[in-house]
Amino acid sequence: MMIEAIDVTKRYGNETILSSISFEIKKGQSVAVLGPSGSGKTTLLSILGLLLEPCCGEILLYGQRMRGLSDTELSNLRNHHMGYVFQNSQLIGSLTVGDNVLLPARLAGKAREKQKQSREILEQFGLANRINHLPHQLSFGQKRRVALARALVMEPQLILADEPTNDLDEKMAQQVSHVLLGLKDQGVALIVATHDRQLAERMDRRVRIDQGKLFDITFQDREIGKLKDG
Ligand SMILES: Nc1ncnc2c1ncn2[C@@H]1O[C@H](COP(=O)(O)OP(=O)(O)OP(=O)(O)O)[C@@H](O)[C@H]1O
Ligand SMILES: [Mg+2]
Repeated sequence: MMIEAIDVTKRYGNETILSSISFEIKKGQSVAVLGPSGSGKTTLLSILGLLLEPCCGEILLYGQRMRGLSDTELSNLRNHHMGYVFQNSQLIGSLTVGDNVLLPARLAGKAREKQKQSREILEQFGLANRINHLPHQLSFGQKRRVALARALVMEPQLILADEPTNDLDEKMAQQVSHVLLGLKDQGVALIVATHDRQLAERMDRRVRIDQGKLFDITFQDREIGKLKDG
């Protein structure tokens, strides 16, 4: 098992966002996380991405318990094992596009070795002529592609992407989906929160968050249109 959540609960004040949910993903598997706005998709991804601590329950990465690890230990695990695409991109405003993409490599002491590759990823995303721009000089869709490029540069075995095709026109959304699905074919595990039905349909599994609980969407549910809310 690559990553597991066991009986995870997350509350804000007296509001329960996730209620004792369990979830796991194996190496090379892909899962779409669906559910209406505010249902807890970002909360779940943040917990699985070791960015947010649940109130109760356990997260295991390759069987290792995450509870009690220091921030530095968690950052190192994140940087080596996961690529995270934030819903709001979260680029560093003072760094150029090129430096944002290289940041994970720089943190791991591999900036030089990853330079060519980061440039190639940006080219693939149609951003070759934006390498020296700052984030505030980009459109939402461009920022999102930079955020995806940054998540890919360390070639992680797990990608967590929070609505990666939002703000993109159809052609770009298809291209980003194509890149994600290509990674899936290479054996990278994907957890993708999305409202994009086409992308969701092409994942191995679909789950839906509803009132704090996580449900597997079965073929029967899809037949009767329960995928709609995603
Ligand atoms: N820091 C916080 N403090 C209090 N409530 C929060 C906090 N973060 C999120 N919430 C609440 O948790 C719920 C789930 O939020 P989350 O961002 O996970 O939803 P989502 O499914 O990702 O929605 P969307 O599709 O709009 O991105 C929302 O009702 C939100 O208001
Ligand atoms: Mg969200």
